[in-house]
Amino acid sequence: MASPSTFPENSDASVTILNEDQPKKPFNNIISTLPTERGWGTKHVVGYQGFWFPDYAPPAIISLQRHFKSIPNQTLLASHPKSGTTWLKALVFAITNQNNCSSDDANHPLLDKNPHELVPVLEFYAKVNPENPNPDLPIVATHIPYSSLPKPLVDSDSKIVYVARNPNDVLISYWLFSLKLRSKELPPLSLDVAYEAFCNGVSPYGSYWDHVLGYWNASLQFPEKVLFLNYDELKENGSQHVKRLADFLGHPFSPEQEEQGVVEKIISLCSFETLSNLEVNKTGVHSNGKRYVQNDVFFRKGKVGDWKNYLSKEMAEHLNGIVVEKFKGSGLKPFVLSSSTS
Ligand code: A3P
Repeated sequence: MASPSTFPENSDASVTILNEDQPKKPFNNIISTLPTERGWGTKHVVGYQGFWFPDYAPPAIISLQRHFKSIPNQTLLASHPKSGTTWLKALVFAITNQNNCSSDDANHPLLDKNPHELVPVLEFYAKVNPENPNPDLPIVATHIPYSSLPKPLVDSDSKIVYVARNPNDVLISYWLFSLKLRSKELPPLSLDVAYEAFCNGVSPYGSYWDHVLGYWNASLQFPEKVLFLNYDELKENGSQHVKRLADFLGHPFSPEQEEQGVVEKIISLCSFETLSNLEVNKTGVHSNGKRYVQNDVFFRKGKVGDWKNYLSKEMAEHLNGIVVEKFKGSGLKPFVLSSSTS
């Protein structure tokens, strides 16, 4: 985490840019040929390999595709932004570190470090280390679509855990996040414009449905390698899915641990209520290499169905209809438009 002295005093911005230009340079020729559309938190989204990305992402993806080397037993956490990445990072960190620190340890790293500090995002790491984008860490994360992952990672023994969330909540969460983190010279993005872009698949890391389907199909094809989780189901039945997650990661809970309530303790440690009320997540900042980000921007409401406070029923049904149509034949259960927030 950045020391307070490196975070600008009196700044009311949620982010502080560290070095905007540096990592684009090696790939300028390719990047300048890519199509662009209006961005959300950044000026543009850039079309690359069938998806739209914030303009900082394609150079990082190219760097990863050229230079990424897998390390044994590295776990990759993947998600479309605002689908529960922070939660998944905390859960996987807590599960895989059970032998080093129990979830009721007063010195547990999750109590004084934001999950994004413990589990870095590959794209941001690659921006700072374009020639050697290889964090030597057991858990890393990404928003890169499955089809654009570096081949050595796909071919390695690395396990991948993907978390998906219902599209209406993803849209609202991402739109509000983008308003907070946008470059201050950009005008605020209206919800109507964001909704339209999301429905057209021209939103950052979109289309949403192709992002989800890529990992869903991989989880069917390689069930030992890719686990597909759903934010809404994790909320509904945490213990069932946390046990599934632990089994998949090769850290199953023993009957004794279950009896001692270890599963519930991990769920409680990683819950929105616990994490969002920690001092580090209320007032701290962390550096993702590109910028300093306030930790509190990753914790808003953490509910299923908050879209109802922003979207009309018609808007939600229309977006859900698009997604249902896109998911048809995939075997992926469409997200249910829940009737209440939880
Ligand atoms: P809302 O904006 O709907 O509240 P990501 O971590 O992928 O950036 O997603 C952020 C969303 O997950 C935000 O949703 C945030 O509040 C929610 N979130 C963060 N930590 C969480 C946790 N421990 N449990 C459940 N939801 C969490």
